Amino acid sequence: MARAPAMIRKAGRSGASGALLTAYEELVLPSLIRLACSQPSFAPWRMRALAGVRGRVVEIGFGSGENLSHYPAAVESVAGVDPSARAVRSSVAASLRAPFPVTVHQAVAESMPLDSGSFDSAVATFCLCSVDDPGVALAEIARVLRPGGLLYFLEHGLSPEPRVAAWQRRLDPIERVVAGGCNLSRDPRAMLVRAGFEILELEEAAALHPKPWGYLYRGVARPS
Ligand SMILES: C[S@@+](CC[C@H](N)C(=O)[O-])C[C@H]1O[C@@H](n2cnc3c(N)ncnc32)[C@H](O)[C@@H]1O
Repeated sequence: MARAPAMIRKAGRSGASGALLTAYEELVLPSLIRLACSQPSFAPWRMRALAGVRGRVVEIGFGSGENLSHYPAAVESVAGVDPSARAVRSSVAASLRAPFPVTVHQAVAESMPLDSGSFDSAVATFCLCSVDDPGVALAEIARVLRPGGLLYFLEHGLSPEPRVAAWQRRLDPIERVVAGGCNLSRDPRAMLVRAGFEILELEEAAALHPKPWGYLYRGVARPS
């Protein structure tokens, strides 16, 4: 079933439980996400995912700038896109330490305030699980990439183990509430193919525990 965009979901909340959920999302969740995303076991995956990134880069779901220290020397500039004001604020310190210019736009990946064909590389790490409409976000990525530009991705997603996948589907409604709209059972490969991307490279593995959160997809894709 289609979900209301995050802004509308928030605006539609009322009463004490709505206020509590909004406070949790604004005060607690960003630190939890930051803690989860900065775990050291992700570092080798990030390095592999970002090794080929070059030129002018657009990074959707920029968060607190966790990828900045993993970008290779061929990167000229990074434009981050994230709807979270708190994430954008907390990315400032990391951006100042980067050896290339970084600008962060408070916006959703589904509607980026960026010119068409203006980026050499696009990056999505642990983000396509959370965007409201991955199909529209991927179409936007295709729009802002120059001809021949590539998308570098690293995502958690659907496990090929049926028992784990069943748990992922069961847990999705809870995960969406406690983890800022994150879905466990999305299939990054299927989403990319549906959005018209050609997958040039794909590494996948049951990399972490607990298993419903631990199946990773890393690769490179080209809009066709
Ligand atoms: C799990 S965090 C990952 C952060 C970072 N990419 C990383 O690898 O550590 C997901 C991020 O996606 C952002 N996000 C959620 N919905 C989004 C959307 N529609 N467009 C762009 N970013 C979004 C969240 O605000 C959050 O910063």
